[in-house]
Amino acid sequence: MKILDYLETRRSFLISGSLIGLAALSSPLLLPGCGEKEEKAGEVTAPEDLMREHGVLRRIFLIFDDLVVRLKQEQEFPPAVLTEAATLIRRFIEDYHEKLEEDYVFPRFEKAGKLVDLVETLRRQHHAGRTITDFLLSPAATADRQKLAASLQAFTRMYRPHAAREDTVLFPAFRSVVSPQEFLELGDKFEDQEEARFGKGGYEKIVVQVAGLEQALGIEDLARFTPQVQV
Ligand SMILES: [Fe+2]
Ligand SMILES: [Fe+2]
Repeated sequence: MKILDYLETRRSFLISGSLIGLAALSSPLLLPGCGEKEEKAGEVTAPEDLMREHGVLRRIFLIFDDLVVRLKQEQEFPPAVLTEAATLIRRFIEDYHEKLEEDYVFPRFEKAGKLVDLVETLRRQHHAGRTITDFLLSPAATADRQKLAASLQAFTRMYRPHAAREDTVLFPAFRSVVSPQEFLELGDKFEDQEEARFGKGGYEKIVVQVAGLEQALGIEDLARFTPQVQV
């Protein structure tokens, strides 16, 4: 490379480097302007947080599905798995996830007069879900296999569309009922509450616990859900 070419290349490099530096300086990551909270890369927003909690719920559906098959086909039934899965539903979904929805999400829609019929149904379903979980955690749960299977099926039948509707209709509309500032602050609030309830890395620990239940039932291999298809 000729010396002039080299200098020109180096000058371009330095200019682009300075521009990148300026861009980085003006990014919200480094300059949160005047105390206003701004969206940061990699930060989990409130709807994202709730959606990934739905992922845990969906994995518990698979556990319930497997328990239903065992109950109906008179196979070996592990009551400890039922109790642990229902306890997770109570602690993580009903007492935490749904409480966030009831305290911070639903009231914003009700106040704004948006999606109120949907919110009313979602509230009623939370109540119905808690009634089923009360039964699943009671000593009576394992006394009648048919009744237990029907309760597990009623739970998953209601919550599959419930979570799907929240993911596809309610949560995407959340930004329209809160200010941009409040939207970001709620993301932080949800994270703080998660840590206060379940400790640091609490979500990850819950996922490990669910994976352990899948393992106990022998349904942990994702590939087992792939159908045999002709190529
Ligand atoms: Fe919900
Ligand atoms: Fe939810």
